[in-house]
Amino acid sequence: MFENKNILIGITGGIAAYKTCELIREIKKNRGNVRVVMTKAASKFITPLTLATLSENPVLSELFTNEFTNTTVHIDSARWADVILICPATANTIGKVAAGIADNLLTTLLLAATVPVIICPAMNKEMFRDKLFQDNVDKLAHYGYDFVDPDSGELACGEYGAGRLAESEKIITALKKRLLGNNRLAGKRILVTAGRTEEPLDPVRFISNRSTGKMGFALAEAAYLAGAEVTLISGPTELEPFDNFRYFSINTSEQMAERVNHEFDAHDILIMTAAVADFKPKSFSEKKIKKNETTMNLDLVVTTDILKEIGGRKGDKLLVGFALETHDALNNAEKKLKEKKLDLIVLNNPNEPGAGFGHDTNIVTLIEANGQKTKMPKMSKNRVAEKIINKIADMLNI
Ligand code: CTP
Repeated sequence: MFENKNILIGITGGIAAYKTCELIREIKKNRGNVRVVMTKAASKFITPLTLATLSENPVLSELFTNEFTNTTVHIDSARWADVILICPATANTIGKVAAGIADNLLTTLLLAATVPVIICPAMNKEMFRDKLFQDNVDKLAHYGYDFVDPDSGELACGEYGAGRLAESEKIITALKKRLLGNNRLAGKRILVTAGRTEEPLDPVRFISNRSTGKMGFALAEAAYLAGAEVTLISGPTELEPFDNFRYFSINTSEQMAERVNHEFDAHDILIMTAAVADFKPKSFSEKKIKKNETTMNLDLVVTTDILKEIGGRKGDKLLVGFALETHDALNNAEKKLKEKKLDLIVLNNPNEPGAGFGHDTNIVTLIEANGQKTKMPKMSKNRVAEKIINKIADMLNI
């Protein structure tokens, strides 16, 4: 994901500095190059050795050295970076940057930098709410600095409130937006569904499937990175929704149908990755069903085919469906494409190794309404999502 990208991480003196280790590992796992610049205060919380080991680069902290070199460390670092991430960013450093002060390596190289800067504040909730601090944030935002807002929760000082360093996923998304984002779908509103539905049988049981939501979440993120406004409707999942989407959580196919129908008119594109249950119990038992016999019959009724219903009133909107097929795949997928009046269907086979539910990878074939087929090799779900979003932009001629 971050191949050939140079990410300079500025670490300042806050307890959240230890969390930056995980972030560096994640960036390195995704093949990004990392150089760390830390302030003196940061080195009280975390050692340069740890950061040098994780980043596989020497850690820089001194603006002045006694040795003569042909390079100036602040200019060299500023020119090396494709993006600068200040994480965690203290109120002190943010205040200095807002005032144009350059009194250490990090603040000096920031003045010299011309690349995007992403700031991840972390501090006590009262410090975060402080008007002077917020004025500094507004000023920097006005000058084009990006902020990844802190989360709310228990803070290191034991108090509760906003100020805790944002989760790594959010910070990674901000990096992706700056490094990999484009505006191909700017101005478009995309509705994405993800995950499974659960159809209750009694207070403790339900019928469902193995979908985890990974493909849908990857698509929502790829659409966001392409500049679209995204609404994500997901069934039960362990994945965390992003702040950058409107997010609705549902359980049953009926709730999914209701929410999709409610949202559809306000969107230009619908991507239905959700593995909606095709059948649900005919009736719901208020009491737990007891096992009185050696066998048991379940009466099931078919659920609403959401995509088919929407296909009937699609107008000029673009509809994308998924087809999960274990046999006669191409024929079945093409049939679904026609029946549901789709513009594009994404075919995958859960029996292929590395494809379908739960995996981080997928193997798909894109089939367009005009009959064009694109078979793709095994790739990460993020990459598949990016390909689908690019295909949608191609189909819209944008
Ligand atoms: N879908 C839907 N509503 C349903 C079932 C499926 O909107 N009740 C959507 C899925 O989100 C997917 C597409 O229809 O985009 C195809 O789903 P799939 O399960 O592959 O096919 P089905 O139409 O359910 O047919 P079958 O299960 O017989 O293969």
